[in-house]
Amino acid sequence: MNERIIAEAERWAKEKLGGDSSGHDWWHIERVRRMAVRLARRTGADGFVCEMAALLHDLADEKLFGDEEAGLRDIRRWLGEQGVDEGSAERIVDIIARLSFKGGGRASMPTLEGQVVQDADRLDALGAVGIARTFAYSGWKGQPMHDPALPPREAMTAEEYRKGKSTAYNHFHEKLLKLKAFMNTEEARRIAEERHRYMESFLARFEAEWNGTDEA
Ligand code: ADP
Ligand code: NI
Repeated sequence: MNERIIAEAERWAKEKLGGDSSGHDWWHIERVRRMAVRLARRTGADGFVCEMAALLHDLADEKLFGDEEAGLRDIRRWLGEQGVDEGSAERIVDIIARLSFKGGGRASMPTLEGQVVQDADRLDALGAVGIARTFAYSGWKGQPMHDPALPPREAMTAEEYRKGKSTAYNHFHEKLLKLKAFMNTEEARRIAEERHRYMESFLARFEAEWNGTDEA
């Protein structure tokens, strides 16, 4: 039963996100799902709820689909049609809603399952894949990869974050280098630390090459 529902969720996510080039393509979902399953095993979280929330987590993103409320209703309806029990459906939708919530900062994530999926999603913004996604997203948005005349912004509202001018390089300082402090689970924290170090060495090398000061 659960296997069939998971396969259906996979099909639905692929259909909706298959062609995306903003860093939310199907393979982002697949990586988050794998990591969520791994973290669920580690922490004893409900594997079905984690895997389903991971598979569907970007289907209500306002930046991709415009209306977040409508996206959530759609997911709720779909889960009902698939025969997911009420309790699990509630928990899955609640996680997705909290993950996509942008107004005035992030919503809290009270359940272990939510924390697992949030960690998995955040981990995909770090490391080599995170670097690749940042440049892919920047290209998609039409922002430059780097502009030394544009310093990273210190504090900003959600609106400024979304609409303001930035660069791929600045996104590391404005967000990605801060993420490791926000991991919920111990396993994710360890993975984040390693990915963080990798990004720092990437940035040092990027700066050296930018300035033509790298060692031969
Ligand atoms: P956000 O809530 O920051 O949009 P997402 O998870 O939706 O986070 O972002 C998707 C990917 O795009 C992530 O890898 C993220 O680092 C990257 N990204 C998001 N905003 C920017 C930006 N302004 N510049 C560069 N990359 C970005
Ligand atoms: Ni995501």
